[in-house]
Parts: sequence; structure tokens; C-alpha cells
Amino acid sequence: MANLAAIERIVAAKRTLPGALLPVLHDIQEALGHIPPESVPLIARELNLSRAEIHGVISYYHHFRQTLPGRHLVRICCAEACQAVGGEALAEHARTRLEGSDLTLEPVYCLGLCAIGPALQIDETTLHAHVTPEKFDALMAALAADK
Ligand code: FES
Repeated sequence: MANLAAIERIVAAKRTLPGALLPVLHDIQEALGHIPPESVPLIARELNLSRAEIHGVISYYHHFRQTLPGRHLVRICCAEACQAVGGEALAEHARTRLEGSDLTLEPVYCLGLCAIGPALQIDETTLHAHVTPEKFDALMAALAADK
């Protein structure tokens, strides 16, 4: 399987680093878009860790994804400064709007726009500030038109 070969190469390249698990997981997600379930036994064997330890790290860090993302990845800041200016309502609005869509919604904890929240990021590249539910809908309409 192509994924397993790629995962083996990534693990082999990083296995001797101290604390190799996080760099390995980052590289796998960067290469494959997520951490495939079949990678866990391989990582466990090569890094001499238990599968439970690896699952624990994957689920602890919101950054790691266990399924492939949708056509676009939408991250909404759930940290305190954004929450204080409507981030929670925005996240709830986004959950409702994106249910069943081909867009993936993820929480993120600070995008560096704390003074101009609520903040949102699209596809790791585009940041938006002062995002209201109305602005969110306009951004999602622009993404939908960009097929
Ligand atoms: S708290 Fe939301 S961008 Fe920093």
C-alpha cells in the first residue's frame, strides 16, 4: 500500500530523534493529509511505544486529523479572546452551516488575531478577522463558488 510505504519512510527518517513521535505525526499528516489508522501499529513498533500512547497523543492535539479533510479546511479560533467577542456563537453557526458539506471544520487555539476576533482560517493560508455569522456565510459562499 502506497500510504504504508510513505509512512515507513517517514518513521525511518525520524525514529532516532529524541521525542520522535510528534515530528513523525506531523510529517505523516503533511504528506497524507491525515494520520491513517494503519499507521499506528507501524509507528508503535518502530518507536517502541504502545498503540494507546500514540492514540493518546493524536487525540490530545487538535491539530492531528484521523480522517482526510474535506475540500477546504475551515478553522475557527476557540481561544479566550475570540470567545469573548462572539467566537462561540460563530463556531455554533459554522457547525450548523457546514454539517453535511464537503468542508471540514476544526477548532484552533489562537491564530494571532486576538485583538480583532473572532478569527478564522481557511486552508492554512487565509486569515479573516472580525468574522460575524454573516461574514462567515459570505466566505463560505465564495468557497462554494470556487469549485
Ligand atoms: S484568541 Fe483568537 S486569534 Fe488569538
